[in-house]
Amino acid sequence: MSGRISIALAAGDGIGPEIMNATLELFKAAGVHDHADFIPVEMGRSVFEKGNSRGMTDEAIRITEQCGLLFKGPMETPKGGGGKSINVTARKLWNAYANLRQFKTLPGVETVYTRAGHNIDFSIVRENIEDTYGGVEHRLSNDMIQCKRLISAPGCDEVHRFAFQAARRLGLKKVHCSHKANIMKMTDGLFLDRFRAVSKDFPEVETADVIVDALCMNLVMKPEQFQMIVLPNLQGDIVSDLCAGLVGGLGFAPSANIGKHISIFEAVHGTAPDIAGRGIANPTSLILSGLMMLRHAGLLKQAAHIENALLATLESGVHTGDFGSKDKPAVGTIDYVRAIVERLGGKPTTVDAVPVPEQATPTFRHPQRPAAPHVIRTYTNVVTHVVGCDIYLDTPLSPISVAEEMTRVCEDTPFRLTLISNRGTQVWPTGSVYTECVDYYRVRFELKDGVAPGSFGQSRCVALMDRVAEKFTVCSYELLRSFDGAKGYSLAQGQ
Ligand code: NAI
Repeated sequence: MSGRISIALAAGDGIGPEIMNATLELFKAAGVHDHADFIPVEMGRSVFEKGNSRGMTDEAIRITEQCGLLFKGPMETPKGGGGKSINVTARKLWNAYANLRQFKTLPGVETVYTRAGHNIDFSIVRENIEDTYGGVEHRLSNDMIQCKRLISAPGCDEVHRFAFQAARRLGLKKVHCSHKANIMKMTDGLFLDRFRAVSKDFPEVETADVIVDALCMNLVMKPEQFQMIVLPNLQGDIVSDLCAGLVGGLGFAPSANIGKHISIFEAVHGTAPDIAGRGIANPTSLILSGLMMLRHAGLLKQAAHIENALLATLESGVHTGDFGSKDKPAVGTIDYVRAIVERLGGKPTTVDAVPVPEQATPTFRHPQRPAAPHVIRTYTNVVTHVVGCDIYLDTPLSPISVAEEMTRVCEDTPFRLTLISNRGTQVWPTGSVYTECVDYYRVRFELKDGVAPGSFGQSRCVALMDRVAEKFTVCSYELLRSFDGAKGYSLAQGQ
């Protein structure tokens, strides 16, 4: 290895180029460029405008894949049309499965918490690929739309392992798993089960779990009790922005999207079109994200020097217009960064300085391109048996009419009708007259008494669905199976 690393650099739109240039000036002054080459790549608005719906050129993709590191500024997501958020595209394209965000009270950044004497210092790891962010959505009937929530065991394992490894590296003693497993017993239940399983490899780290609604209250009431929290994607997305609010807003909350091969480091705020081009944007979030990247790459000494200089600058009261004391005039982006450069080698005095390690050369290795998509597995050799199916219907009929039709359909089959539900609530064989139904039913067929699980495969279920489809619009179908004897499906509310 040459000892140098290459980092793909996408400055972004709006204030992106202003804060990126300022950040690179700081990095250069701290000696980062002695070990790293920043290679500009084309991503964002200009690429969307050329009709590329991914928002990144093929060359940008190639360079990023070679580098394994992408440092990016905020990018505009086109409203309407086919253009998708580059941030989401990049995370999925490169399987950046863990989003690490750090929340720290900073000197000179006044919040209700600093005024109340609370010191905040914790991290969130959010699963970044699965959950409802798969974007698997369908219109099922006139009135019903579905978004599939996908949670996989290997996906959970990867994100939990990353969280524990990050806790170990950061010297944290406790990791919380946040979830809603009391309601989503199977999906969030799996997320929690895998957390417990993976935690066994990290016996020195204390663990706890917390339901996400209680977590939100505890974060607001007593944020000091947390060191690291790991969450599924959607819950993590919401909670991490809440946490940014605890430390002064998105301008102070850096973010890293970590993958096995490629990792992306970005500011979490947007392109701030209202102040773009005026040279007044706050580059702190991008600088902090860059520090996460330098540490990921092994440039630990440079990162510590920059962080200490940033803390010293903030405590001296230097600030951009979006934060800081009104008694002291705000400075522009470049002057803010020059104030940090002046303090390189110095340390803050009112808060703890960051220890400066000796490690100052890259430990990061550019990734090898995989030959093909990799299949990852957690559970193997599980014995599965077909025990029935759920058939989903688009119909405005009443529950009792649906039940009469379905009872006839399965008369001479190995199945019996066991349940009809509407929006997850059982409406047959028992139900409440207060349940309001919409035009989308789940009809559950299970094996008749005396038919042994495993006596046939799924073709009998498909044949049953065919029969149902002669009379109804079947929107979708789910096979019911047992896995090592345990039910692989949930019960309806009220069942
Ligand atoms: P925004 O974060 O750009 O702006 C919200 C408010 O915060 C504005 O008043 C802005 O001036 C201020 N602000 C944001 N960053 C600042 C900074 N560094 N210094 C000083 N003030 C700052 O959010 P908005 O307006 O909702 O989105 C604008 C565009 O950014 C949209 O096209 C959106 O798609 C995109 N966006 C991109 C993100 C990314 O690339 N990571 C994240 C969020 C939004």
